[in-house]
This record gives sequence, structure tokens and C-alpha cells, in this order.
Amino acid sequence: MASYALRSGAQLVTATPDVGDAAALLAYVNRVAAESDFLTFGPGEHGITLAEEVAFLEAGASTWRFLRKATIEGEIVGFLDLRRSPRPRLQHTGQFGISVRKDRWRQGVGRILLSELLDWAVSVGMRKIDLRVRADNVGAQALYRSLGFVEEGRVTRAMMIGGAFFDELLMGRVIDP
Ligand SMILES: CC(C)(COP(=O)(O)OP(=O)(O)OC[C@H]1O[C@@H](n2cnc3c(N)ncnc32)[C@H](O)[C@@H]1OP(=O)(O)O)[C@@H](O)C(=O)NCCC(=O)NCCS
Repeated sequence: MASYALRSGAQLVTATPDVGDAAALLAYVNRVAAESDFLTFGPGEHGITLAEEVAFLEAGASTWRFLRKATIEGEIVGFLDLRRSPRPRLQHTGQFGISVRKDRWRQGVGRILLSELLDWAVSVGMRKIDLRVRADNVGAQALYRSLGFVEEGRVTRAMMIGGAFFDELLMGRVIDP
């Protein structure tokens, strides 16, 4: 658990979520799904039941998974999830997803969650972090670039929302000793 003073004056607490967070996390996910079109799911499209969320959290964080919730006054305002494959040829890499509640955008929450991920990635010996981001999501890309991620490719028609296609950029950050 760590605590940070945001520039808004709010106190942000980060921690690994546990089973007791399942319902709050589902509510959070449904909320952020409706707040932008930049996630891989829209409102009601996450498709995870409470039982599945409990099972997901029971499996918990490990060497192969980094989970972090960010809370303000006990309410979840941000979430980050990275998965690594345990396969020897892939375990140096991992992909993550991140979201922050819209009323807390541009207050430094995303940067804090990503910085904690980078520290963890170094500590477990990862050598590369990958992500996919919608090509028109310039805000998220600015955050990623500011932390050393670079564009590595483009996937066309990666998402289809309401009949419209959206490309995604592949971005990555190497970790070298
Ligand atoms: C992308 C997201 C996670 C960023 O979280 P955040 O807490 O707002 O980010 P931060 O406040 O830590 O921003 C850090 C820096 O990133 C850049 N940045 C973040 N959002 C930006 C935006 N909308 N426009 C331009 N730059 C932006 C800025 O450089 C910012 O620093 P500054 O505010 O000091 O200028 C958040 O906007 C979000 O959840 N968006 C919807 C879901 C999403 O896009 N997830 C990522 C999918 S790949």
C-alpha cells in the first residue's frame, strides 16, 4: 500500500485489490466503460459476473500478474492490470490495461499507477512492456510516451464501435539494466 498527495489536494492510496473489492471493482468497470470509448468494452459489455470477478481476485496478484487499484477516500478511481505468460520464451514481456475515473483525469493517477508498474516490472526481471491503444487516444499516448513507451506498429480495424472501425497503435517500453 502506498499513499500520494495529488495536485488536486486529494490523497490517493494504491494497493493490490483483494476478493473484498470484487463488487466495487465491477461497479468501477461499468462506470469507466461509459466514460470513454477507449476501452475494449462499452457500458454493459464487460461480460464479467460477480462470481468471475471474485475468482479473478482470488487468483490474485503474482509474479505473473500485477494488479493495482487506486482509491480516494475508499472509492476506486483507477485500476491497472498487467499479465505475463509464464512460458520461458515470453515471460520477459507483458501487456497491461489501465483506466482512471473521468472525474479524476489529469490529476496524476495514471502516472502513479504506471510508475508503480514499471518499478514492479524491474523488480521481477521483466525486459519489455507492451500495450495497445486506440490510434486517436492521444491523451493516453502522451502519458505512455512520457514514461518511455514508443510506437512499434499499427493494427487496422482493431475495434469496431457502432459500425465504425478504429485502428490501434502497438506501443512498447524496453527495460534494460
Ligand atoms: C489514459 C488515462 C488512464 C490517463 O490517466 P490520468 O490519470 O488522467 O493521467 P495523468 O493525470 O497521470 O496524466 C499524466 C500525463 O499524461 C498526459 N495526458 C494524460 N491525459 C491526457 C489528455 N487527455 N490529453 C493530453 N495529455 C494527457 C499528460 O502529459 C499528463 O501530464 P500533465 O497532466 O501533467 O500534463 C485516463 O485518461 C483514462 O482512463 N482514459 C480512458 C480509458 C483509457 O483511455 N485507457 C487507456 C486505454 S489504452
